[in-house]
Amino acid sequence: MSDLDNLEQVVEKNPQEKYLSDYRPSDYTVATIDLEFDLYDTQTSIKAVSQIQRVANKPVPLFLFGEDLTLVSILVNNQNHTDYELVEGGLVLNDLPDTFTLEINTKVDPAENKAFEGLYKSGDAFCTQCEAEGFRRITYYLDRPDILAKFSTKVIADKGLYPFLLSNGNQVDQGDLENGRHFVSWVDPFPKPAYLFALVAGDFDCLEDNYITKSGRDVKLALYVDKGNLDKTKHAMLSLKNSMQWDEQRFNLEYDLDIYMIVAVDFFNMGAMENKGLNIFNSKFVLANSQSATDQDYLGIEAVIGHEYFHNWTGNRITCRDWFQLSLKEGLTVFRDQEFSSDLGSRSVNRIANVMTMRDHQFAEDAGPMSHPIRPESVMEMNNFYTLTVYEKGSEVIRMLHTLLGEEKFQQGMQLYVERHDGQAVTCDDFVAAMQDASGIDLTLFKRWYSQSGTPQVFVTDHYDQASQTYQLTFKQKTAPTADQSKKLPLHIPIDIELLDSNGNAITLSEGKTNRVLSLTQKEQTFVFENVSAQPVPCLFRSFSAPVKYQYAYSDEQLLDIMSFASDEFSRWDAGQTLFSKYLVNNVKALQLGKPLSLPSIFIDGFKSVLVSENLDPALVSDMFTFTSETGARELFDVVDIEAIHEAREFMLQEIATQLNELFVDTYLRHQQLKAYEPNIEDIAKRKLKNLALAFIARVDKELANDYVLSQIASCNNMTDHLGALSAANSGLLACREEVMQAFDDKWFDNGLVMDKWFALQASMPSADVLEHIEALFEHRSFDFNNPNRLRSLVGVFAQNNAYHFHNINGAGYAFLTDQIIKLNSQNPQVASRLITPLIQFKRLDKKRIELIKSQLNRLLALPDLAVDLYEKVTKALAQ
Ligand code: TRP
Ligand code: ZN
Repeated sequence: MSDLDNLEQVVEKNPQEKYLSDYRPSDYTVATIDLEFDLYDTQTSIKAVSQIQRVANKPVPLFLFGEDLTLVSILVNNQNHTDYELVEGGLVLNDLPDTFTLEINTKVDPAENKAFEGLYKSGDAFCTQCEAEGFRRITYYLDRPDILAKFSTKVIADKGLYPFLLSNGNQVDQGDLENGRHFVSWVDPFPKPAYLFALVAGDFDCLEDNYITKSGRDVKLALYVDKGNLDKTKHAMLSLKNSMQWDEQRFNLEYDLDIYMIVAVDFFNMGAMENKGLNIFNSKFVLANSQSATDQDYLGIEAVIGHEYFHNWTGNRITCRDWFQLSLKEGLTVFRDQEFSSDLGSRSVNRIANVMTMRDHQFAEDAGPMSHPIRPESVMEMNNFYTLTVYEKGSEVIRMLHTLLGEEKFQQGMQLYVERHDGQAVTCDDFVAAMQDASGIDLTLFKRWYSQSGTPQVFVTDHYDQASQTYQLTFKQKTAPTADQSKKLPLHIPIDIELLDSNGNAITLSEGKTNRVLSLTQKEQTFVFENVSAQPVPCLFRSFSAPVKYQYAYSDEQLLDIMSFASDEFSRWDAGQTLFSKYLVNNVKALQLGKPLSLPSIFIDGFKSVLVSENLDPALVSDMFTFTSETGARELFDVVDIEAIHEAREFMLQEIATQLNELFVDTYLRHQQLKAYEPNIEDIAKRKLKNLALAFIARVDKELANDYVLSQIASCNNMTDHLGALSAANSGLLACREEVMQAFDDKWFDNGLVMDKWFALQASMPSADVLEHIEALFEHRSFDFNNPNRLRSLVGVFAQNNAYHFHNINGAGYAFLTDQIIKLNSQNPQVASRLITPLIQFKRLDKKRIELIKSQLNRLLALPDLAVDLYEKVTKALAQ
């Protein structure tokens, strides 16, 4: 037993990097694993019986991963096996036959598990989270994604407390046992990696439905939620059915099991998990009705339900060979969920939202200490690589393939990928090979996107020659060195362009089309356009055709032309963003030189015409007035001046609000809706613009805004408008702020998900004493430090979205966040490691702030039990 005691004491010292280049196939394979769980709060027993075969051609020991487990017994072919060794991170078995049955009995403590990885309790229910490496917290196993086995699971628990016992696949047996206990047995016919295993036990309300697949199979759909929440399940079920239908129509992919289950839980580290046939969701991405959920919640639910459903093919049927390949499933599945949302809703609005995420957050990750390619080459803690780079930039890379191949060839590539690799664990190279083979397009150079990190910059110049009627566009690309990679090579960058003539009409370029996708493959390249009768305005990177920063010396007039005439709505929005950024940079410089701030009338007039135009989608108008955040604006500067960026940006917004106030009032009044609430795209767009207008009014006409807020709250029939009013009161610090916040609290205090919106508003209050408010709210009746959603709403929103106050030069924000991370370190390192982001991306800040932040990071580094997750980020940040 002394080995076991040793394992308990293993502290994580000097964690090691693991390398993609070290990948080796496993020496052993697992054909089947039969699990039996005897569920008790503090002592759950797990019996795991596997059929194992050695594939290595000589006898080698078998290493099984295991963490935080109590080992009870090991049997090989039903005989007690004693030739084993417990080592850090697992178990080594010696003296094994070529093929054998391995039985391992372990015990775990779900009630004590606050990391929410492995088997844990969310409220009264048992549930699991195994991705990426959580299965090793359930039993000793070959917990790597290239080990595919057939799973069967028997779950035993108290029948009164846990009437529902769920696992992957189809239910095959059930029955009553002694002492008020019962069991249910499940068999999953599809071999799968351990990270897709799931178990749930609890008492739920259940919404049932069914879906007939295109080949005519009847699939049972079941949605499990905490009791009393059945009235909030309709939208999630509708989204699931829409996902199933969309994947058949657009990707020709059909569901494969007879049942699809979704369980909503309140304690969950991420958004949701695609476990085979049994998705487990953060309840935030399931529960919605008009009273408790906003339009954004409805859209988020649709996207995440879609995302997890689409994983059934891109992730589950075809999975990753190793975790360095994570973007194989995540980038592709994000691309698929973005396309789903775009096909069902507004393509432009979705595109703009995705690009905002890239520019406001992913670019910063690429420029920071955790910079990595979408296929990382080395990893310390896998949980740290569920990143914006792997997910969002990964999706942009798939989107570039789609742009280069076109829908038809892209879909042929998908079909070939599925044909070749169904049932396998494969690599990003395999995916690109299928795309190349199906399309006949050479993707050799394109593959660099998988191995090179950093945000490329593209510098664009042009030349028009009247005499020859030719127009030239010259592109230079450059990627700056990143924390992980000093040398950068040219990438294959698709540039979708359109040229506008002096009347704002798009010039026909080739094959009767007004756009053309240029392939920039060299460091510098020039493209020539013939028969151009006058200097055109180039509209570049239409639809954000590549995840790059680009520069062209646009005049204000040219940008206004694009804003009014570009055929691509994204380009119109982007021109507005470029114009805003240009004057933001000018005004920051003015502040630094002690000169007066200014915004020319051409700017105001340009945006005025957006606000008055009758034929624009109100959602697009609203996005045109949603300018880069202070965090996103940092990308415009080599040295970030926190105060100047804040002041300059506030000045500009204040100018816009003042000069267009009458129009905002008019817009606000024109978009009132008194009909029944419906989360359809037209109504969502109107509510979005109306509430945006209200926020602008609240900047300058406080009394009028106060009246509007009060009457909107009194008369509205939905959460979007209630929160829109509250948000304007909060951001405008209106007289009614206290009163309306308190009333909301009194009404919703026992609904954690709704209170998350309230905590987020508190955390983003634009007031110098916001931190004191936040600290006081830790005692609020609705706050729960152990709930990741609550924590993100209060602490995460402050650090991420209230950048100006978080970065207060007194250092209090840094110290506060570090205090919270220290509290979380031993309990939930995964969540701690996500919250730390604003403390590690400091390279471009001023010296004083860098010193303050470093001293906080050193506090963390001095902890005796610093989790690997944090160790990896803190050491990389301090090495900058
Ligand atoms: N695969 C999940 C998704 O993309 C992500 C996920 C859910 C996850 N829970 C996790 C990743 C826990 C790491 C740890 O939908
Ligand atoms: Zn995913």
